[in-house]
Amino acid sequence: MKPRVLVTRKLPDAVEARLRRDYEAILNPTDTLYTSEEIIKKAVGMAAILPCHTEKFTAEVIARLPECVKIIANFSVGYDHVDVDAAKKRGLIVTNTPDVLSDATAELTMMLMLGAARRASEGERLVRTRQWKDWSPSFMVGVQVTGKRLGILGFGRVGQVVAERARGFDMEIHYHNRRRVAPELEKGAIYHATPEELMVHCDFLALHCVASPETNGLLNAERIALLPDGAVVVNASRGSVIDEDALIAALRSGKLYAAGLDVFINEPAIRPEFRELTNVFLMPHIGSATRETRDGMGFRALDNLDAFFAGKAPGDRVA
Ligand code: DGY
Repeated sequence: MKPRVLVTRKLPDAVEARLRRDYEAILNPTDTLYTSEEIIKKAVGMAAILPCHTEKFTAEVIARLPECVKIIANFSVGYDHVDVDAAKKRGLIVTNTPDVLSDATAELTMMLMLGAARRASEGERLVRTRQWKDWSPSFMVGVQVTGKRLGILGFGRVGQVVAERARGFDMEIHYHNRRRVAPELEKGAIYHATPEELMVHCDFLALHCVASPETNGLLNAERIALLPDGAVVVNASRGSVIDEDALIAALRSGKLYAAGLDVFINEPAIRPEFRELTNVFLMPHIGSATRETRDGMGFRALDNLDAFFAGKAPGDRVA
């Protein structure tokens, strides 16, 4: 008998085809966003759940999941939506989908840097609203990306690909990571032992750290104050790693030249200030949103399920 899997969102066709072939998959063709109560009800009789970061598995939800659920195979690299301690206590296996989205997220990060520095939102709005009247040497002048110093906070898989792409713009790479990485991965990037030491070297700062209690509000007012005046901050990791009050204040005061944000603390109901500020380039959490990557994420989640149901250790186990 095929294992029963609850799939919480509409997944790419090729991923759903493989799901149907190998599992008794309960799909969500209308892509309805389920509440926690609905997930708990739908999980009755399921051996696995394949959710996205849009579904929250708090300790309370995990405690109420039927006993038959043995694995949560996330369609995401981030797993801050799952209380992993609660999962571990219950013996519930949790997996994520690393590696496959590093390129797409790094592309989006470059877009955030370029969009913020070159005032992409303002420019596009001018053209679309027919307010583009003229050209002049002082029209829509931004800051250049090429040759600047890029600080990367969190030098894991995504951070390292961002460094690679940024080298194409002749950027000088600085980073902070919990552990210094090997020289062959550093490729000349300059390591700083603390976030504070990194800050002073960042014309651009890109956040690529995992969301956790330790990284909550990591970029706060004190650390922003250490950045050079006129720095640009970009975030394609999770909103929680930035103190949004501090970021908004720095964007308003001009301490920061601009920000490029793909993630926010309260998505999609983001702080209204972000919509009002002209020096923010905004994207709706689409770092991994390419056809290739979404297929890759789905297949990776299925590889984890396949391993589990074959009695093997899933490759991407996080709990
Ligand atoms: C991820 O994989 O963590 C992306 O943010 C989408 O959930």
